[in-house]
Amino acid sequence: MFFSGKIIEVTKLSSDYYKTDIKLFEKISQPPKPFQFVMLWIPRKDLMPMSVADYHDNILTIIFKVRGEGTKTLAQNPGFVGVNGFYGKGIKDLYERKILFVAGGSGVAPLPYLTRYFRDKISIDVIWGFRYHHQYFDLSNIISSRSVGEIFYVAEDCVDKRFYCGKATDLYQKIIERERDKWDLVIASGPKEMLAKICEINRELDVYVNLENHVKCGLGFCGSCVLKPTSKLLCVDGPLFSCDEVAEYLSQN
Ligand code: FES
Repeated sequence: MFFSGKIIEVTKLSSDYYKTDIKLFEKISQPPKPFQFVMLWIPRKDLMPMSVADYHDNILTIIFKVRGEGTKTLAQNPGFVGVNGFYGKGIKDLYERKILFVAGGSGVAPLPYLTRYFRDKISIDVIWGFRYHHQYFDLSNIISSRSVGEIFYVAEDCVDKRFYCGKATDLYQKIIERERDKWDLVIASGPKEMLAKICEINRELDVYVNLENHVKCGLGFCGSCVLKPTSKLLCVDGPLFSCDEVAEYLSQN
């Protein structure tokens, strides 16, 4: 379904990350599920797949990193935008799950809505890894729910003592070896190499990965988001998959 919207705010979160709130004009009858995504249309500039970072009262929030003409324009507040969605299956219902959410870079985007949607039905700890210390922002400022416990920040450039030095997968491996009974579900979201590593580290845990891929139609028609060599389509079968479902895809470079 197509919605027209107006950007009501763009907030710079850190050196590279932004958050924008979009007021949708048409009434949303069915709110999105966590991990669903939209195709965001910036008139005369771009059409981009974006995770639902948050949603309430007909206001859609997107968290993004500037990496092209479309996101550059979005950071400068283009005013009116179009939103097509909501795409993907999203996550099944969760009840009393203890979740470890591991994010790399902009893979952290679905977190606020995950916590808002399930609120006190889940408890969630977070590992968020980024390349440079100046990309950091305080996740507790964008999360409205109290279901979030510990938040671990990991920076690859290792120059800021507040952050664990290394990759999100390094810290994940360390804490999962030490405290694996603390969580009964792991959800990882970020670059493909990171997700492949997370799936490798512990095969006994219930692990789901939130994939990114090239998306065009979002409806299962064009085939551009097929997760080769499987026949799964990210836009209709995902974007969240168990490690087993996408093991072959993750093993390809
Ligand atoms: S984007 Fe066209 S089939 Fe998925």
